[in-house]
Amino acid sequence: MRASLATLLLGAGLAAAQASFADLVGTWSSKSNSTLTGPGFYDPTNDRFTEPKHTGISYSFSADGHFEEAYYRAVANPSNPRCPKGIIQWQHGSFKKLDNGSLALEPIKDDGRQLYSDPCTYKNSIYTRYNTTELFERYEVLTDGYTKKTRLNLYKFDGSPLMPLYLAMSPPQMLPTSTLNPLTTSTAGAKPTGKVKRSDLPLNVLSKRTPQQQQADRWWWFGVFLTASGGILYYFF
Ligand SMILES: *[C@@H]1O[C@H](CO)[C@@H](O)[C@H](O)[C@H]1NC(C)=O
Ligand SMILES: *[C@@H]1O[C@H](CO)[C@@H](O)[C@H](O)[C@H]1NC(C)=O
Ligand SMILES: *[C@@H]1O[C@H](CO)[C@@H](O)[C@H](O)[C@H]1NC(C)=O
Repeated sequence: MRASLATLLLGAGLAAAQASFADLVGTWSSKSNSTLTGPGFYDPTNDRFTEPKHTGISYSFSADGHFEEAYYRAVANPSNPRCPKGIIQWQHGSFKKLDNGSLALEPIKDDGRQLYSDPCTYKNSIYTRYNTTELFERYEVLTDGYTKKTRLNLYKFDGSPLMPLYLAMSPPQMLPTSTLNPLTTSTAGAKPTGKVKRSDLPLNVLSKRTPQQQQADRWWWFGVFLTASGGILYYFF
């Protein structure tokens, strides 16, 4: 009897906890709607990014407490407008809604990636691991008065708003939410494939980029220039 009451209470508690962030569930993207989480942004098998058409950011939240985020930013260089920097970042992990309404995002540290490009300073773009815990002081989901789209406002730890995000997909489009597996799949007796294991990736510059990856990096770089020369720069933070 007591056990079943406890089960009931626990069930009710879980339902309440889930209901409390049900409105967050989905894939959200900034206005251009071209940066989206999921396999179209980061390909974990080949460990590479596909750069979106336009800069932007995207967050996905699942009903079982996982998140994924994708950032593609061009950073203007006021002292030399022809030298913009570009950053692509991706990470995923779990999130919690705290009792005080804040959201705490805890990434899986080994999985996150960053591609940094500062073409006027470095010849090649720099590919590294990336992880950062995030705290959003609060959030709100509402219907945008102008576009009538479902809109998510996230407020940073200091209360300042992130750019508005709009519901792009529901259920969310996300890569597997568990720790991504090493690339190597050496069968018994077979020689190692020579591929780099994810866990072997150094924390800073990844030198073992395949020619295809290097080509992709170059295209991405080129895209940063195009974005900048078109005058379409988005500012973040
Ligand atoms: C996570 O990020 C911190 C801060 O940048 C860094 O010191 C740490 O080495 C990173 N961890 C991994 C596993 O990449
Ligand atoms: C909620 O609690 C967390 C953890 O204690 C804290 O960092 C955050 O600032 C709090 N949020 C608000 C809105 O007070
Ligand atoms: C954003 O892009 C996704 C994927 O292409 C699409 O399904 C969705 O309808 C778009 N949303 C808006 C608001 O344009």
